[in-house]
Amino acid sequence: MTKRVVLAYSGGLDTSVAIGWIAEQTGAEVIAVAVDVGQGGEDLRVIRERALACGAADAEVVDARAEFASEFCMPALKANALYMDRYPLVSALSRPLIVRHLARVAHERGARLVSHGCTGKGNDQVRFEVGLGALAPEVTVMAPVRDSGMTRDKSIAFAEEKGLPIDVTARSPYSIDQNVWGRSIETGHLEDIWNAPWEDVYSYTADPAVQRDPDELVVSFADGVPVAVDGRQMSALEIITELNRRAGAQGVGRLDMVEDRLVGIKSREVYEAPGAIALITAHQDLESVCVERDLARFKRTAEQRWAELVYDGLWFSPLKSALDAFINDASRHVTGDIRLRLHAGRAVVTGRRSPVSLYDHALATYDTGDVFDQSLAKGFLELWGLPSRVAALRDARAGG
Ligand code: ARG
Repeated sequence: MTKRVVLAYSGGLDTSVAIGWIAEQTGAEVIAVAVDVGQGGEDLRVIRERALACGAADAEVVDARAEFASEFCMPALKANALYMDRYPLVSALSRPLIVRHLARVAHERGARLVSHGCTGKGNDQVRFEVGLGALAPEVTVMAPVRDSGMTRDKSIAFAEEKGLPIDVTARSPYSIDQNVWGRSIETGHLEDIWNAPWEDVYSYTADPAVQRDPDELVVSFADGVPVAVDGRQMSALEIITELNRRAGAQGVGRLDMVEDRLVGIKSREVYEAPGAIALITAHQDLESVCVERDLARFKRTAEQRWAELVYDGLWFSPLKSALDAFINDASRHVTGDIRLRLHAGRAVVTGRRSPVSLYDHALATYDTGDVFDQSLAKGFLELWGLPSRVAALRDARAGG
């Protein structure tokens, strides 16, 4: 049987060169797989043609935007997933989806080798290889950029020597990864962490400092996921796209941070995730109305763990799957509307309503109609404070 390698293909220089490189090194035929997660840019057909022109035996292009939105972004939203309390896991979410398609194609084509173009310094290699280990444990992974000296200079030389149809000069000073959930920007002047990001790093968001009128909208949720904007029912993908546009126009969702990578490096990262940040803000607020106090407290711990697992490449792991079950159960009554005001780089909640709200006006009010029996508070506080009182008395006796 012909030896086959399935390659995660982006259409860029490194993975285009990897096609010929892998074929030369292994004598195998290369099946390129390009997955559209909403990164924009080139048409999938153009990418497919380029893979074939670079020597791929076959190329598969997959429009996975809807799948990405509903099966990866929506679980992240239910988990209010923010790594280090800030980063909405943009790149970390797309890798397991790409892995799922790589594993599928490897099974369908009987390939025993799968390849990616990651370097050895980042998190993405972890997400590819650990994910593949879970979904296709029989395959061997090849990482030519990391393991067989496929440096940038050599890639350019290889592309020129073979006359590959890639523009080797079309190179941004930044390393960019983008999808419908947001955009990650690294390297260039950002590697000096004292440098402020230049305006040219951004493309999903307008400058929040520019004066403009605010935008107000209502997001409706059902069981923890958004289902409509301003009363119009939409798919998960449509909602994220709409919020990227409207929140992006107000400069919402820019982030500049030094991040702890799994491989031990601290790295400067700039992100823009207007839709994700607006939706998480709305979702957290609706939870504060609909989720009971202890469940909400525990969920925050689960959310942090969930984000760390996904960041660390453990999307397909037993703990992640068990936490999903918990988060889904905890999301059962997260239903209702949130009014959001988008302005000057911020998404601010200005109103909330829910048919399954736990907010009880009669209990909360200080006006007439109050049904809260304040006389019960006195005894409750006696008992609530009893352990600390007993301990304090003991300390006093012991001469503390
Ligand atoms: N630091 C982020 C992460 O690990 C972004 C990685 C972006 N990847 C890239 N190839 N530029 O999730």
